[in-house]
Amino acid sequence: MPDEDNKIMKTNIAVFASGRGSNFLALAKAVKGGRLKNAVLSLLVCDNPHAPVVFKAKKLKIKTALVRPDIFSTKEAFEERVIKHLKENKIGLIALAGFMRILSPRFVTAYKNKIINIHPSLLPSFKGANAIKDAFDYGVKVTGVTVHFVDEEMDHGPIILQREIKITDKDTLESLEERIHKIEHKLYPKTIGSFVKGKLKIKGRKVLVKIR
Ligand code: GRF
Repeated sequence: MPDEDNKIMKTNIAVFASGRGSNFLALAKAVKGGRLKNAVLSLLVCDNPHAPVVFKAKKLKIKTALVRPDIFSTKEAFEERVIKHLKENKIGLIALAGFMRILSPRFVTAYKNKIINIHPSLLPSFKGANAIKDAFDYGVKVTGVTVHFVDEEMDHGPIILQREIKITDKDTLESLEERIHKIEHKLYPKTIGSFVKGKLKIKGRKVLVKIR
C-alpha cells in the first residue's frame, strides 16, 4: 500500500517459533530475496533458548525476543511481555511457525486477524503436534499443508490456503516429512505475500484471496 510519499508501507512481521526454524529461514530468505517486498522480518519470538531457530536468527542478524515462560508466574504475565516486544517493534503480522504454545483468547483478541499459523496436514484433519506422523500412520492417501488465521481454538481458524500431496506406497515417514516441509517453505511466504498486500478478506469461516 503506498503512503503519501508514494513509498510502499511495509508490514513488520514477527515469527513465533520454538524449534528447528526451517519455516523461519524460508521466510527470511523470501524477504531477503525480494519476494516479499511489502514485508520486514522484524522479530523472532522464541520460548526456548536452546532452539536451533535462535541460532539461525543470530546468524541472519534478526532481532530475537527470547521470552522464557518459566520465569513468569502466569501465562498472562508471559504474554504481556511478548506483547511488549510486539508493540516496541510495531508488529503488524504474527506468523506462528512451530510455536509450541497455545495463545490465550486475550492474546488472540489483541491481535485479531493478524495471527496466522502453518500446519502440516489438511485441516481439519490431524490437528495437534504430530500431524505428519498421525496422517501417515492413519494410512490416508492424501495429506498436505494448511495456512490459516488463528482463533481461540487450536488449529481451527479460517483457512487461507491449502496444498495437498499424495502419499505413495514408496513414502516413509521421513520422505513424507521432507515433502511436506518443502511445500511449507513455498506456501508460507506466498500466503504472507497476500496478507501484506492486503489481498486477504475474512468472511466468517471463509477467506477470500483477491487475485489482483
Ligand atoms: C512445521 O511443520 C509447521 O507446519 C508446524 O511446525 C513445524 C515447524 O517446523 N507448525 P520448523 O521449525 O519451521 O522447521
